[in-house]
Amino acid sequence: MEKVIVFDTTLRDGEQAPGAALTSEQKLEVAYQLQNLGVDIIEAGFPIASPDDFKAVSLVARDINTSIVCGLARCLKDDIEAAYNSLKKARRSRIHIFLATSKIHLQYKFKKVEDEILAIAKKGTHLARNYCDDIEFSPEDATRSNRDFLFRVIETAIKQGARTINIPDTVGYSYPQEIHSLITDIFNNVSNIQKAVISIHCHDDLGMATANSLSAVLAGARQVHCTVNGIGERAGNASLEEIAMALKTRKDVFGNLYTQIATKEISRASRLVSTSTGFVVPPNKAIVGDNAFRHESGIHQDAILKKRITYEIMNPQDIGIGRSELVLGKHSGRHALNKRLKDLGFKLDEKRINVIFKRFKELADKKKEIFDDDLIVLAEEEIREKKRIYELASVKVVTGTDIIPEATVKIKHKGLLRQAESRGDGPVDACYKAIDKITKIKAKLLNYKLEAITKGKDAQGLVRVEIRAKAKTTIGRGSSTDILEASVKAYLDALNQVR
Ligand code: KIV
Ligand code: ZN
Repeated sequence: MEKVIVFDTTLRDGEQAPGAALTSEQKLEVAYQLQNLGVDIIEAGFPIASPDDFKAVSLVARDINTSIVCGLARCLKDDIEAAYNSLKKARRSRIHIFLATSKIHLQYKFKKVEDEILAIAKKGTHLARNYCDDIEFSPEDATRSNRDFLFRVIETAIKQGARTINIPDTVGYSYPQEIHSLITDIFNNVSNIQKAVISIHCHDDLGMATANSLSAVLAGARQVHCTVNGIGERAGNASLEEIAMALKTRKDVFGNLYTQIATKEISRASRLVSTSTGFVVPPNKAIVGDNAFRHESGIHQDAILKKRITYEIMNPQDIGIGRSELVLGKHSGRHALNKRLKDLGFKLDEKRINVIFKRFKELADKKKEIFDDDLIVLAEEEIREKKRIYELASVKVVTGTDIIPEATVKIKHKGLLRQAESRGDGPVDACYKAIDKITKIKAKLLNYKLEAITKGKDAQGLVRVEIRAKAKTTIGRGSSTDILEASVKAYLDALNQVR
């Protein structure tokens, strides 16, 4: 068996997706789940980019035990030193340096000639190697670079001590056969290539990121860059779940290649990344979309009942779907709750456990049975809810088929209890208008989505809203067994992120 190394860049390239900014705490939470997933390397950020990025990489480096933690740097002294400093506490660290090699970038971005770029690559790799044994080098825009020049740059980086050479399809321009021939050419033309692992980094601008990554693997690449849910710059990066499941499902094609991804953790990782970033996973997204294992047509349903493999190439349980177990009830104690949250992969301090326990008891009063998915939502809400500028105190709505709905909402704000009433086109609209009277923020509701977290009449509803206010788009979430309460909480959560 031969391993394909999984280099996850959800926290770096993924976070570069417009609107996906994560706090350091959220990044750490995602990093724990990436570790549970079994990713080999976590690229935690670009430390020179901002103090927040530096802090996030430092936190991940301090707390992650099994995965290698990596920081990105340009081939510049300050960048490399920032990466080194942010990674000081890591058990195992890697510095990932990059430098563009395509004519387009040389001419318009750097205004430099090839020999100058070669010298920067040499100096940068050499410097980085003085700080860290594990250096990865990326010739940015490799797929649009002149091949002979690319080979020279790679050879130089390896000579200076780079152990991994990553080939980025930076603008998602390539296609599978082309990637295959590029990787083959690198193997055939770079004299010292056996001293390094070849890696691939694909973007999805033409929808070929996963196909391109797999094509590189077939040509001999043994590391893949990817992100959970495929989030990333522009159209995103190759998605981790697609690559892991393709290698697992198509053993006939990939033979003895494997990743060490614990695929049963995929579903939870997908949810966590979606709730942390606010990026809703499209229902038709491969592997993790809501519809990925749903069968609508009668012919399909009939055949599935006879034999699943007629229309299902993967087992949803292998991805961790449908494993929500009945876990706790009204009489369960703090210890049982804490243990279950740990089993679900949450690392929470006592203060947070106490808040979640209180909410759990409130929920258990309303709902007989508490499932894993209920707990996950409670825990994720607590992790997410840091700045509660506006907090719901109570909501009352008078509504019916032949009256105009009227809402009374009470909100806690800066230690004061404030109240407003409003009518609206529907009960949710009435609540939101009442809230607008209190906050005086002119917010436009762009999106509203309600889903049930678990099954049954007493299921919790999870509401996601997207609003536009003060020239900023924010996403809020709220859950409750009462959908109006969930709707109000989601709206307040979105408003709390508007400054
Ligand atoms: O897309 C890209 O080229 C990158 C590099 C930093 C590897 O993200
Ligand atoms: Zn990228």
